Amino acid sequence: MNPDAFSELAAARYSVRDFRPDPVATEIVEEILEDTRQAPSWSNTRPFMLALATGERADRLRAAYIAEFDVTLPVQHKKRGAMVRLALSGKAPDGDYRTWAPHPADLLPHSQAVGSQLYAHMGIARDDRKARDAAVRRNCEAFGAPVIGFVLVHKGLMPFAALDAGIMLQTLFLSAKAHGVDSCPLGVLATWRRPFDAEFEAPADYRLITGFALGYASDAPVNDFRAERRAVRLVPARS
Ligand SMILES: Cc1cc2nc3c(=O)[nH]c(=O)nc-3n(C[C@H](O)[C@H](O)[C@H](O)COP(=O)(O)O)c2cc1C
Repeated sequence: MNPDAFSELAAARYSVRDFRPDPVATEIVEEILEDTRQAPSWSNTRPFMLALATGERADRLRAAYIAEFDVTLPVQHKKRGAMVRLALSGKAPDGDYRTWAPHPADLLPHSQAVGSQLYAHMGIARDDRKARDAAVRRNCEAFGAPVIGFVLVHKGLMPFAALDAGIMLQTLFLSAKAHGVDSCPLGVLATWRRPFDAEFEAPADYRLITGFALGYASDAPVNDFRAERRAVRLVPARS
């Protein structure tokens, strides 16, 4: 096995944020799923599940996520009393995990940096709320990807289930890339359960931890964006 080939594959994968509508052939999706069998897991439990949507189901999901997103706009715009009104309307985000929870102080600068670099790359000014809303809304459409995926984890084996799901998902993304298929993880889709539950029947013990998109990158400028790839930090050894 050639280590350079692996390094090339790992470097080639990046988060694509605009997809061509071309479908991914079923056989290719099956081959990618076959590769996910190779991921290790806690006591070989594989405590996760995947759901995949294409075609009309994917389009219904896009519409449902956009509708959910749009009713949260007053909250995101920090309009007074918006959170209370949203809660009273029964439309507050109903995701299993709080995707909007604040980042720890030491990690926040990295999140802010990638956000501002991405918006700058897209030519969206800091105070251009309309353009920013439109950019976030594109997440809810899975950036137009033909395949929308969901990752669920067993609530009884956390945090190891989340760890295993992550290992599996990167195996999936790398296999996809090796098949010429691009991807984007979509944590934003885990903000809500309603759209997912309207389309899939997940077992009661499984929690929605992230969505993702699969398809073929368009030549939109947003796909020229590359996030900084910092080295994994090493914990200093005691002297
Ligand atoms: C679990 C997870 C959820 C993510 N959710 C989103 C998302 O909702 N929208 C988005 O544009 N990017 C999302 N990303 C992509 C990250 O922003 C991206 O991986 C990071 O900036 C590094 O860039 P790269 O993937 O191009 O290497 C997510 C990544 C992960 C691992």
